[in-house]
Order: sequence, then structure tokens, then C-alpha cells
Amino acid sequence: MNILLIGSGGREHALAIAIAKSPLLKNLFIAPGNPGTEACGRNVALDAADHAAVVAFCRAEKIDLVVVGPEAPLVAGLVDDLATAGVAAFGPTKAAARLEGSKGFTKDLCREFNIPTGAYGRFSDAATAHAYAREKGAPIVVKADGLAAGKGVVVAMTLPEAEAAIDMIFGGAFGAAGAEVVIEEFLEGEEASFFALCDGERALAFASAQDHKRVGEGDTGPNTGGMGAYSPAPVMTPAMDARVMAEIIAPTLRGMKARGAPFRGVLFAGLMIGNDGPRLIEFNARFGDPETQVMLPRLDEDIVPLLAAAARGGLRAEPARLKPQTALTVVYAAKGYPDAPERGTEIRGLDRAEAMPGVVVTHAGTKRDGDRLLANGGRVLNVTAMADTVREAQARAYAAVDVIDWPGGFCRRDIGWRAIAR
Ligand code: AMP
Ligand code: GLY
Repeated sequence: MNILLIGSGGREHALAIAIAKSPLLKNLFIAPGNPGTEACGRNVALDAADHAAVVAFCRAEKIDLVVVGPEAPLVAGLVDDLATAGVAAFGPTKAAARLEGSKGFTKDLCREFNIPTGAYGRFSDAATAHAYAREKGAPIVVKADGLAAGKGVVVAMTLPEAEAAIDMIFGGAFGAAGAEVVIEEFLEGEEASFFALCDGERALAFASAQDHKRVGEGDTGPNTGGMGAYSPAPVMTPAMDARVMAEIIAPTLRGMKARGAPFRGVLFAGLMIGNDGPRLIEFNARFGDPETQVMLPRLDEDIVPLLAAAARGGLRAEPARLKPQTALTVVYAAKGYPDAPERGTEIRGLDRAEAMPGVVVTHAGTKRDGDRLLANGGRVLNVTAMADTVREAQARAYAAVDVIDWPGGFCRRDIGWRAIAR
């Protein structure tokens, strides 16, 4: 098969490594890719926002499957335009990507199809939103309806905080994404991320992970795209996986089909596991970053038939076959991230880290300058290790971090603390 992978982050490097292992693969192209993906296939300077150019490339290179990594091309309808041109793609259509793009849409779907989630209200003016927040009381969660780069959620522990969040969102802090506000019940429990591959009709349990969203140790400081992760999430036992598939994923697929927007691709459920079971916090319509970097090394089968079946239909029901080990990744970020990451600092010693047993380093924001490797983003490298226990995986990942010579970088030193504390 000829495969075109869209994206340039650590998630896409992890996908490229997994796809490159497939005996079914003839050629892998990555658009635009990064210095890490060069070793897995051919990086091509193709602008994913130019759908006509992507279609033309697929025809010229006889692409059998396009795999879309990030959400922006999904929300822009790349998969729709590929389908019109007769090119199979892994990822939802624009209409199905609303599961990520509109929190109000997803909450209404939950209500109609009995999917467990927090009680909520949808508001398009501040006065009604304030009245609802006062009636419910704190703690309460205030969210911008649309995509706000992970910053549109305020977990308000007091009523004044909730009121300030409502005013901030309606005040235009997130532009059109904040034209509507969702106010939601505060859920208690342990958070986990669960991933299911979907073909519009059927779903297959893929894997679970836990992320670390805050920039600082002990889960402090501002939110980021994710500073590290591990898979599996210990709270996601096989019985809990089965409940999530039956109570959340299956009714979502039924609901999306009923709405004329069958969901194909990967459904990424942000969950709160409480005393009475799993409840949905939010959906994403794509693989997680850095969750993918810890799930894919555990995959004990060829990923390509799974991606192709999700895109074309005929997905099997049996869960993905996974190695029992734990994978843990540490995000190595440029100093100044998330506000103002410093670019252009030199990174040395990656080959030493990569030579360590069970270690994989993926590139997220690097660029080559002759034979030097430079930082070129916020999250720059992901250092991933596999081992029999989370404690051992953590020790291996930090041992690998420590042989990388990058004075311009920093990382959290406590990735995995929650699982180890268990
Ligand atoms: P989101 O962007 O929706 O993933 O929200 C960011 C974070 O806010 C989540 O990872 C949770 O930690 C927290 N959060 C969101 N919604 C709720 C809720 N209803 N109850 C408790 N915490 C929440
Ligand atoms: N790591 C969180 C995300 O990919 O949305």
C-alpha cells in the first residue's frame, strides 16, 4: 500500500514508525513530517490546507490511504474532499469532527443517547449563564463551546471564579469559539483517556493512557498540550474498557449515524472514572499527543489493517492486541514553553538515548541545520521507554533524557507519579 500521513508532530512520528513496520507498506509519505519522520518514509512539502493539492498528490503517487493526524485538517473537511475524489482516509468528516469541535453538540448527543456525562446547560448570553451558575453553585465547570487550543475550560471552585469565566468567554477571549458557553457539573474521580477505532458502524477498543496537562511538577502551572503520558491507565481495567465501549463509544456511534454523520477514525474519550463508573468529559476526533507515543509501542499487531478498516469499513470487534508492558513518555520542551518557547537551541546526543534498550525518541518540534539538530517549537522531543512496570519505564525514560545534551530544554521530572503512587 501507498500511505500519505498528514502532520508534523510527535504523534505523527510515532504513527510513521508504526506504519513503516507494516509488511503491507510500499511507500510512506509524510506531509510535511519532521526530521524524525525522514527515517520512516519520504517527507513531502505538501500543504494540508490545500485540499486540491493533496488530492492531486494522491492521484500522482497512487495513494491507497491517507492518515490524518491533527484536528485542523479534519475540521477543515480534508477527509470530505478526499472522499469526493475517491481516496480512502483515516479520520472523520467535517460533520463527524463536531464531536471535538462543539462541546454543546456532544452534550446534546449524550443527553439524547443516554451517554453518561455531567449535567449541563448551553448558553448564548451572559445573564442566563450567570443565573444557571448561581442556581447550581460551585464547584462548577465553564467551557467555551468551540476549539480554544485547550484553554477554553475553567474548573471554577467558587462562584466568583465561575462568573469571571463566563464574562471572559462572552467577552471574546476565544473569539467565535466562545460565542456559546457550556456550563457543566463538576465530576469527581480519576481521569483517563480511552481510544477506540471506529468505521462508522463498529468500534474496536484500542488502548488507554493518562496525560499530564500542567507544565509544572505536581500538576501545577498553566495547561499545555501535554507534558508526558503513560499507557495503560491503571484505572482502565478490561472490565472498565468494556463498560466504556458499551456505555459511551457504542451509543456515540449510533447517535452519529442517526445524525447523518457516521464517525470514522479514532474516537478519543476524555473520561472521569468515578464510583458509579465512567462518565464522558469530552471527545477528541483524533489521536492524542503525547498519548499516541505511549500507545503505539505497545501495539502487538500491524496497525495498517486497523487504520484501513476504520477508513473503509469492516473493522473487527476484538480489541487491539497490546503488549502487557507499560510505556511512559517524557515531553522535552523548549525553555519558555508554553508561553514563549525559545527556538534555535542545539540538541546533541539523541543517538545515545536511542541506543538505550526499550527507548524510542520521537521528534515533535525540531529542524535540521546542516548536521545540527535545532529546537523549533514548544514541545520538541518525546522520550519514550517501555518496561514491565511504570516505575521501571519511568527510570528508563529519565535515564534516556539525561544522556541528551540540550541546555535549551526542560521537562517535568515526575511523569507517572499518580500510577506509581497507586
Ligand atoms: P477539556 O479541555 O474538556 O479536556 O478540560 C480540561 C480539563 O478540565 C480536563 O482534563 C479535566 O481535568 C477538567 N475538566 C473538564 N470538565 C470537567 C468536569 N465536568 N469536571 C471536572 N473536571 C473537568
Ligand atoms: N494530549 C491531549 C491531546 O492530545 O488533546
